[in-house]
Amino acid sequence: MTNQVNVCGADAPELAGKHIVLGLSGGIACYKSAELCRLLVKAGATVQVVMTEAAAQFITPVTMQALSGRPVYSSQWDGREPNGMAHINLSREADAILVAPCSADFIARLVQGRADELLSLLCLARPVDRVPLLVAPAMNREMYAHPATQRNLAQLTQDGATVLGVGTGFQACGETGDGRMLEPGELLEDLMAFFTPKVLNGQRVLVTAGPTYEAIDPVRGITNRSSGKMGFAIARAAREAGAEVTLVAGPVSLTTPRGVTRIDVKSASNMLSAVAERAQSASIFIATAAVADWRPADPSLQKIKKDGSGQAPQLAFTENADILASVARSPAALAGRLFCVGFAAESHDLLENAQAKRLRKQVPLLVGNIGPDTFGQDDNALLLIDAQGSLELPRASKRSLALRLVVEIARRVPAHAPAGQNTAPA
Ligand code: CTP
Repeated sequence: MTNQVNVCGADAPELAGKHIVLGLSGGIACYKSAELCRLLVKAGATVQVVMTEAAAQFITPVTMQALSGRPVYSSQWDGREPNGMAHINLSREADAILVAPCSADFIARLVQGRADELLSLLCLARPVDRVPLLVAPAMNREMYAHPATQRNLAQLTQDGATVLGVGTGFQACGETGDGRMLEPGELLEDLMAFFTPKVLNGQRVLVTAGPTYEAIDPVRGITNRSSGKMGFAIARAAREAGAEVTLVAGPVSLTTPRGVTRIDVKSASNMLSAVAERAQSASIFIATAAVADWRPADPSLQKIKKDGSGQAPQLAFTENADILASVARSPAALAGRLFCVGFAAESHDLLENAQAKRLRKQVPLLVGNIGPDTFGQDDNALLLIDAQGSLELPRASKRSLALRLVVEIARRVPAHAPAGQNTAPA
């Protein structure tokens, strides 16, 4: 690896260049489709809305036209298409068709291959190997749980469609249970994940993130300014790339990325135990956490009170174990079954410090960044160091850096190797 500039470092909207046919079938969840459409457009996609007659009972085509910036289609007899074949034209240009909401009736129609209205017709007419179909079910909990619906969803999956999950909770009908359409932000994330190349398929990734908190007494402690955003972004990107991901998080209030198993810890010792338990069954370990190097040697069980003398209490410190270094020296890592990635938060001389840290921690890949420039921010700049040299990933959002970093990690770990079968890192 030589010093080179990341050509796609600039933050292009994530769905730029993607053309999505957003299909709406009849259901109260249509109100969420307006927001979903907005999010898709904001993410850079062009959106062509197609609505069934029933969907138009819940939300007007005018709303969807205004939000998508394109006239809405709802009839196969639409005269706007010069060749009169809206079902062919609309399905051929799509990168994906997303039906959200997908009602119980519409699911049944898809399963039967019905073609008597535009949306089911264009789903049937789509080239199956080139235009993926994703459906976001939305219905009453009894309808969702009914064997007919479950049978239809299984058949739909078997026919090559991607059936997205459903939310649980209070439903418009007043009942509570499974069957709510996922929230617009969740559907956007699922679509982004769908488009992400599965470069980490079969890998088991363990990530540490955030700060640690070292208690002085029951109400005070020592922590640091790490927000955990980079680690959470990496966990999400690794999951989207097909890995099974466990995230060991210090005290942060970030939302757990979808599909990621999260273990909350407080202190460096808690983090060490959580990691030690799981590292040997992982195939990739990514240590992004800003672990406290020191902890108060003798934390007080009661709040330390001022004694009126004006003297500050004397605190003695004990060094914490180095989690990354201990994992990097574990049998799995030494045997090449566990690929370790370290981070280095520096304040100066990034290249020299990061190179030295890589050797000291004995990891194949170390990612350097300037701590004060990134703590708490949504963007960052990374310097990747391995045995071959260094690679700069210029300033960009943590989200896009995480996606890029996952690809760089996958390049160094044989793709599609079953977990535990990695060859020794370069
Ligand atoms: N790390 C760790 N356990 C520690 C300290 C650090 O696992 N007790 C990991 C971090 O998660 C990171 C890497 O080691 O991946 C480097 O952390 P950093 O704080 O930059 O380095 P230190 O080892 O603490 O060295 P120094 O503070 O002297 O720069």
